[in-house]
This record gives sequence, C-alpha cells and structure tokens, in this order.
Amino acid sequence: MSSMAASAQSRCTVVPAHPGMSHRAKLIARELNLTVAKGLDQISDPVALMVDDSDMWLQENKLSPPGPVRVDFASPAMLYRRRGGHNELLGKAVGIRRGRVPRVIDATAGLGRDAYVLADLGCSVTMLERSNVLALLLEEALKLALISPFDEVRRAAARLSILRCDSTTFKADSDQVIYLDPMFEDRKGSAAAKKDLSVLQALHGAGAGHEELVAWAFSQPVARIVVKRPLKADVITKGRPLMS
Ligand SMILES: C[S@@+](CC[C@H](N)C(=O)[O-])C[C@H]1O[C@@H](n2cnc3c(N)ncnc32)[C@H](O)[C@@H]1O
Repeated sequence: MSSMAASAQSRCTVVPAHPGMSHRAKLIARELNLTVAKGLDQISDPVALMVDDSDMWLQENKLSPPGPVRVDFASPAMLYRRRGGHNELLGKAVGIRRGRVPRVIDATAGLGRDAYVLADLGCSVTMLERSNVLALLLEEALKLALISPFDEVRRAAARLSILRCDSTTFKADSDQVIYLDPMFEDRKGSAAAKKDLSVLQALHGAGAGHEELVAWAFSQPVARIVVKRPLKADVITKGRPLMS
C-alpha cells in the first residue's frame, strides 16, 4: 500500500475508546497530524476518530449525535448492498458487460462503500482519498478484509488498493474508468447514507470542489467518466450523460 502527499486537513480529534488505548491514540494522532483528547467530552472538533484495539470509528460531536460510522467491508450493511441489487446500476455505469470488467479509479473513495461494491462485481479498484483520516480507516478495513473468514470478502478486498492523495494530481491510464462521487448537498438516501454523509460533511464541510474533480477527470486519457448524482439532479458537465 503506497501513500502520496495528502492535502485535506480534517476537523477531527483522536480519542481513545478507553484509557488503555491512550498510547495507540497518541501514535495515530501523530501520524495524522491531529490532536488527541482523553474523552469525547473534551473535544471541540466536530468529529472524533475513536480508537480501540482492533477497531476505529468516526463519531460526530454534537447534541443527539448519529451513531458511530465505521468502514467494515464484512459488515451486514455491506452484505445488504451486495445482495440488495444496489450494485446493478453502479456496474452498468462503469461499463461492466459480459466478459468485460473495467479497472476503476474511485477518485472520491470516502468510506469505500461504492469501491467495495465495484470490487465485489469484479473490478480492480484504485481508491484515492485525500483525507488522511478516511484513508487510514480504509487502509485498516482493507487489512481486516484481506483476512476475513468470508471468501467473497477476501476476493473483493484483493481487488482493492488505496492511495492517500489528491486525485487531481493522479495520472489515469487509458484503460481505466474514473468514478466520482463528490459531496453534493442535494443528496437523499437511507438513514445509513445520511449518517455517512453527515460525518463526511462534518469532517470537511459540504459540497467542496466537484468542479476541479470533473475538470481533472476530463483531462485524463480515459474513455469513460462516471459521476454519481441524485436522480433527476442537474447535469454538471457540458456533454449530455450517456445514461442517467
Ligand atoms: C461523498 S464522499 C464519497 C463516498 C464514497 N463514494 C463511498 O461510497 O463511501 C466524497 C469523498 O471524496 C473525497 N475527495 C473530494 N475531493 C477529493 C480529491 N480532490 N482527491 C481525493 N479525494 C477527494 C472527500 O474527502 C470525501 O471523502
């Protein structure tokens, strides 16, 4: 797993899940260049990265906070996405056809939900994420998925890789498909999707910078660019989408 210079600073404090995790929390805070606090009640950032022995999660710091947000490729929620037909549109959008499974660059990896679905469909997926906090969660989830007791999770994990970088510095190959899911504010979805979006917005602020990402994608030598948008949302590129 390689890493490149990451740019986005997170509004996040590292917090040990219990006093025995203080040392690990300090090491992670140092690696991510973040501050560390003894408990959730002592932080002023909008998000805490909670650290336990073999587990990490994001917790929003607000009144009536939504529950913890984890990256766990073997979770029941990911299994539901896999079996619930959520993957069909995504697979069609990136161009999966009988006998053809593209290599995908997920240039907005986030919590890795879409990347995992694509890997599960057979694509090899390079996840790019500029937030060091999210990249760390993805790296840790990938390590665990590679040794999962479930064959299908290990198989999909073997097709995933993660780079900490700003995607607009990345050079794509001509046989790759670029997948973009920037943080649009007009997103609707399930309670779980809203919880994910809420913590991502708390980390980085809403709606940041999709123009740059789209411009970068169009500057790459790829034949297909996929932008995830809410149904019936405005078209954000000059050309007409091939499918919507
Ligand atoms: C809405 S989230 C993506 C969610 C993801 N599709 C999933 O399934 O979990 C958008 C993510 O893109 C990342 N991002 C935005 N601009 C980026 C850039 N230029 N380079 C790398 N990551 C970027 C943000 O940090 C954020 O984590």
